[in-house]
Amino acid sequence: MILTYTKIIVYLLEYTFMRLTAKALGWPFTPPPRLSKEQRLTINAAFKRLLTRWKLVIKQFPRSNKLSNPIAHLNRYRLILTDLRSFLERKKMKDSTDLKGITFSMDCPEYFKRNYHYQTDGYFSFESAMRYDHQIELLFLGTGHIMRKVAYAELANILKGSEDVLEFGAGSGTSGHQFKQIFPRTVLDILEPGPAYLDFARRTYPHSFNEYIPEFMENFKCLKKYDCIFSCFVMHEIPVAFWDLVVQKIKESLKPNGHLFIIDSQQNCDSPDHQFALDQFAEDFYEPYFQEYRENSLEEYFRKKGFKLMVKSEVLFSKTLLFTL
Ligand SMILES: C[S@@+](CC[C@H](N)C(=O)[O-])C[C@H]1O[C@@H](n2cnc3c(N)ncnc32)[C@H](O)[C@@H]1O
Repeated sequence: MILTYTKIIVYLLEYTFMRLTAKALGWPFTPPPRLSKEQRLTINAAFKRLLTRWKLVIKQFPRSNKLSNPIAHLNRYRLILTDLRSFLERKKMKDSTDLKGITFSMDCPEYFKRNYHYQTDGYFSFESAMRYDHQIELLFLGTGHIMRKVAYAELANILKGSEDVLEFGAGSGTSGHQFKQIFPRTVLDILEPGPAYLDFARRTYPHSFNEYIPEFMENFKCLKKYDCIFSCFVMHEIPVAFWDLVVQKIKESLKPNGHLFIIDSQQNCDSPDHQFALDQFAEDFYEPYFQEYRENSLEEYFRKKGFKLMVKSEVLFSKTLLFTL
């Protein structure tokens, strides 16, 4: 666990440095929320549960316990600092359509032309892809990677060999790369609609993936069937009106008895004690479809679409859902 605690401390220091720099230079950094004693206890308990599970995952999959290259890490942090002022000013103005100079492909839906999280260039530039994962880790103080790996470990009884797997909404490739640290023999195709993000994934992880698919899930034309399809923090970024199309593509692409594995934020139907954290997330980060996402229970939605829920578990303020057809 030494590596884990080192990582958490590094992200905490980096976050504090950003805050102090912004304060010193008069940039609009939103201070962390004031939490009640109960809320602090709830957060601590959720972190403890996550770290307890993570200890077990490290034992089972020792190769998953890695730090990233320190030079690459510092370079990414430098890029975040360089971008900080413009990010904070956009966030203060609540400007979510600041995408000047970006050329959209013909099939790019309107809902996607946004600065998700107010991030510079949305999902549309290589520089944004370079900053993306580090920014998310700053948000979760170094535990985003742990959350994903703890979640993936739940597939240990299902993925035992060279199964064909598809990840949709692969982002900059980190979530897929971490999946491969746990299941190195699987044949993983990644699908991502942000072309620059997919390009970043291809260059950063040239040997991790089998296919790099530039597509929206609702437009995916599958050429093969998969044993397992998964996504990590994607469903809340797709408007609910598009979920039926996404599910149709998932069903077409899964083998009989195949598995669907979803990792995403908890919703209104989940722990009442955790709702304050979801409210805070919606307040701090521009997530245009988060409200409707919260109101539409994923487990109920997929059940109505013919999926059977096999396992549900909590991972910090997120959840994992394992379905079969
Ligand atoms: C919050 S990011 C998560 C990225 C990655 N899975 C991770 O864990 O770091 C959501 C990703 O979903 C992608 N996405 C959004 N709408 C999508 C859609 N309709 N089909 C496939 N991917 C989509 C975005 O481009 C983005 O990369």
